[in-house]
Amino acid sequence: MTEQLKIAVTSDWHLSNNNKFFNLYDVQLLIDKMAEEADILLFLGDFVNSHSKLDAQDRELAFKIAHLLEKVSIPKYGLIGNHGRGELKKILSHSGGLIMMNRDRYSISNSSNSQTLGIIGIEGSFDGSLAHADYAPRYPNSYTMRRRIREVSDDISFLKTALKTSPYRHNIIAMHYLPGQSTIGRESNRKHYSLGSKLYEQIADIYREKVFAIVHGHAHLGSVEGKTHAGIPIYNAAIPALFRRSRQITQQQFYQPYIKLEI
Ligand SMILES: [Fe+2]
Ligand SMILES: [Fe+2]
Repeated sequence: MTEQLKIAVTSDWHLSNNNKFFNLYDVQLLIDKMAEEADILLFLGDFVNSHSKLDAQDRELAFKIAHLLEKVSIPKYGLIGNHGRGELKKILSHSGGLIMMNRDRYSISNSSNSQTLGIIGIEGSFDGSLAHADYAPRYPNSYTMRRRIREVSDDISFLKTALKTSPYRHNIIAMHYLPGQSTIGRESNRKHYSLGSKLYEQIADIYREKVFAIVHGHAHLGSVEGKTHAGIPIYNAAIPALFRRSRQITQQQFYQPYIKLEI
């Protein structure tokens, strides 16, 4: 570890056996590069494409991902996202050594202990507060919506306490869902209500002097960079969004398919 702390963040690989866009070989190159350049790795979810239960092929893929992660010797933290929950989480933590977070907090210091970064990890959820004006949630009182709203509210209680009591000057909030509007990009207006909640960035703004950045995934069509109302940087590490940006930048700029932060 160097004097600075370098953090590399990636998300939303959506690996499957027929995914030609981003495959296991790409993941191997990505992980190697991230581990070479950073001190801490953050994986923000949607590792595989299957929604809940893993079938035999997905399970094999999950063990292959775990095998790649296992070789990384620097601290590595992850969220599961909304694809391939339960069993995938176990495989990645038990066989891959990935520290899976859901309403958890950790801290990492550099070699001289002059810098410590607090990591606050929450999966996140949605509550309809990001709904586009023309597309309110269709079933606002459904069981699913009520469950989701409760999840956001539990996240917010956790986040508030985590930030309030954090002894560190620099904290990163790592989540899968969106913390607010600013990186929503070109996501379909119909989907906005289900992408996240603006309550996350509102809480972050209250404790803004302690929040270094918010990183998230999930927004495949989102923009890569944004800001909270009070100016905290927000980064969307979803691979599809990063790839789209790579086509917009000039050849002189070196493109990296992950977010790199330094404190
Ligand atoms: Fe995703
Ligand atoms: Fe997602």
